[in-house]
Amino acid sequence: KPSLRTRVTFQIAIEELGGSAIYLGPQEVGLGERESVPDIARNLERWVDGIVARVNRHEDLRTLADHASIPVINALSEREHPGQILADFLTIYERRRSLQNVKIAYVGDGNNVAVSLMLMAAKLGVPMSVAIPLGYRPDPATEKRIDDLFRVAGVPFVVTNDPKIAVAGADIVYTDTWTSMGQEEEAAQRREAFQGYQVNDDLMSHAAPDALFMHCLPAHRGEEVSDEVMASPRSAIFDQAENRLHVHKAILLLALQSVGPVSS
Ligand code: CP
Ligand code: NVA
Repeated sequence: KPSLRTRVTFQIAIEELGGSAIYLGPQEVGLGERESVPDIARNLERWVDGIVARVNRHEDLRTLADHASIPVINALSEREHPGQILADFLTIYERRRSLQNVKIAYVGDGNNVAVSLMLMAAKLGVPMSVAIPLGYRPDPATEKRIDDLFRVAGVPFVVTNDPKIAVAGADIVYTDTWTSMGQEEEAAQRREAFQGYQVNDDLMSHAAPDALFMHCLPAHRGEEVSDEVMASPRSAIFDQAENRLHVHKAILLLALQSVGPVSS
């Protein structure tokens, strides 16, 4: 899938840590089409120390990981976007100096970003409310995984159809595009389904007075978020983008420790 932030920040992170990166676009690799995914993994492990992969099918990440002895890092799949959310929690921590007493609201599609946000909030014990229309929620197995983690953490987790309820008193208001990469044909239907889910000044007025607005980007201004909110002093969107770089360095260092020394 295409990328601005993830590709550039991983490439710079690798170079600033003393390594080098080779970008392989879909034309070169033909993941599962030109060559089977296990064979691609068995080749790459002979030459490189790690694979950062952005894929259409999450299953391909698992297959790469199962057939390569080197770390495989999820740079986004249709199911999860963990590097993004690690950077987002770093951003929240920087702004609030703590993750204590922070309540997050997510408004919009129950997509890869929403799933990773819910999973990580639960793991960190951060209360969360989400407004996602019926029919756009994560699959039942993922919902159960999220519910179970929040139950173990013992912090509130609310799912509603009403953005105002989700946002009430929230310290963070997070949204993402209504149409993710690969869903372009559903765009018109999705714009319809998400009417009333735009994060705008009116919705932000229901959050805490100093609430931050967050978005992983790219944004579709005028759809899931208004221009005013994107540009407001409450918007942390470019801090999130910057923190992708710092967090990707941390992910790489942790992952590569298992395969040998890394200069830092
Ligand atoms: N947020 C994010 O992952 O952006 P890119 O798709 O541009 O990498
Ligand atoms: N949900 C979006 C995130 C882009 C970073 C997508 O998958 O297209």
